[in-house]
Amino acid sequence: MRVDVITCVPFLLESPLQHSILQRAQEKGIVTIAIHDLRDFTNDKHRQVDDYPFGGGPGMLLKIEPIVNCLRHLQKERTYEEIIYLTPEGETFNQKIANYLSGCQNIILLCGHYKGVDQRVRDHFITRELSIGDYVLSGGELAAMVVIDAVIRLLPGVLGDETSALLDSHQDYLLEPPMYTRPAVFENLKVPEILLSGNFAQIDAWRDEQAWLKTQARRPDLVTKFEGISPTDAS
Ligand code: ADE
Repeated sequence: MRVDVITCVPFLLESPLQHSILQRAQEKGIVTIAIHDLRDFTNDKHRQVDDYPFGGGPGMLLKIEPIVNCLRHLQKERTYEEIIYLTPEGETFNQKIANYLSGCQNIILLCGHYKGVDQRVRDHFITRELSIGDYVLSGGELAAMVVIDAVIRLLPGVLGDETSALLDSHQDYLLEPPMYTRPAVFENLKVPEILLSGNFAQIDAWRDEQAWLKTQARRPDLVTKFEGISPTDAS
């Protein structure tokens, strides 16, 4: 898979890509993540990529010209299934969208900054708008990182144990059961007996029940979704 990210603050994206799972995924050649600095695509002699909105009002907007120059440059090399603009006005990102994006070959993520981008970019060049939640960030960069992380960890070979992404909270609309590790007793705090029993059928049944109870207590909206899907939808 290839992910191209367009931003006017490339440094914001550097560190998270250089560690842990995202770093390993790139080293293994499973994903290529390329960051593009919008300032490299402007004809402005001061390399300015933003300007005041027509009609007045506070804040600056990213200009159409460098964005379209960058998109055309990338599209000359390959075809993209999605050109995504990160904005709090977009569709809320979730596991289902992450699953779908992990099946794409090439995607572009465009990060807004300041007051966002010229509307003509959104109307004519963007295929999809995504939000990571109902709050406003200073720019789309952190949101792009959230999307990248959620998508890349789903690619085959990225996680050590291939099944572990399937057991994640939200993958089947249920939260994860409580998990414990050694020691079995810390001060007077004990791990549930069942987990030490070696009876894996009973452990699975206990975990299913705990996942169910936790989801009912914390996210009853997800229980409704889980009940509404068939076992094949959940896999
Ligand atoms: N840019 C600013 N806030 C955002 C959000 N909540 N989601 C995606 N992009 C954003």
